[in-house]
Amino acid sequence: MPSQPEGNRRLLPNVPTTADPPNNSMEPTRPAAANRISDIIEALAGRLISRPLGAGVYVAGIAMSEAADPSELVRQGYNKIAAQYLAARSSASPDAPALAHFSSLLPTNALVLDAGCGAGVPVTHFLAQYHRVVAIDFSIAQAQMASGLVPSAHVACLDMTQLAFPPAIFDGICSLFAILHIPRSKHRNLIAAFHRLLREDGLVLLCLGASDNEADYGPYFGTRMFWSHFDSREYLEMLTATGFTVLSSEILPDPISKIATHLFVLARKDGA
Ligand SMILES: C[S@@+](CC[C@H](N)C(=O)[O-])C[C@H]1O[C@@H](n2cnc3c(N)ncnc32)[C@H](O)[C@@H]1O
Repeated sequence: MPSQPEGNRRLLPNVPTTADPPNNSMEPTRPAAANRISDIIEALAGRLISRPLGAGVYVAGIAMSEAADPSELVRQGYNKIAAQYLAARSSASPDAPALAHFSSLLPTNALVLDAGCGAGVPVTHFLAQYHRVVAIDFSIAQAQMASGLVPSAHVACLDMTQLAFPPAIFDGICSLFAILHIPRSKHRNLIAAFHRLLREDGLVLLCLGASDNEADYGPYFGTRMFWSHFDSREYLEMLTATGFTVLSSEILPDPISKIATHLFVLARKDGA
């Protein structure tokens, strides 16, 4: 394992402790909104948080099943390459218009989950200009950078496949270039979990793989990385079967490799 910040090494995964509120709490303008952000903090404090770390970063007791789980390779990889990835991730990437469109369809000051936020730039940073953002990443290095770069966001170090937020709490969920690092056997449940976390008519913007590829390992910024995904058609069927209405989908180039392409889907949770 790469060396971890002291707070991460001291985790007691199954022992909930009282977490102080983050020192970067936002000032929601709507009473309903205030309740919902407290619900999020409560969910983090009661079930997942060991203790707050640094400037508002929460660290969960993530189960680490070591070598058998390729997600552990991904998590450790991003801990090593967080700064390099940030340097390579340009704000003027091909996904920027899709993100802006997603944001524009949400109500002002919406509660938005950015799942797999990386260092928070450009995605969390963009969304936080207009909305209340809960940004999560299971790499502590990424989560710490996001907390520093986007102080108005609530940043948590969490695995998106193990979320324990209350149902129907988010107005929008966005996940860019992250789900493709999760073993695809978990994608159906993950999409169902996003569906549960969204309020009725809530929106998702997802970046998913575009081709059939169960497991791919390769070099990435000097470390070893893992990718896994279905093809576009299977994802579109999966979203519909889960209860989403697909509003638009497009294939866009990866902002870094320029060779890989991804499926970007904007979808709405169907009403009752
Ligand atoms: C390619 S980066 C994308 C970062 C950001 N979304 C962006 O668009 O620049 C992928 C991120 O997903 C995170 N990630 C991968 N699997 C995850 C999981 N199961 N839970 C939370 N974060 C995850 C990685 O740690 C990494 O920071």
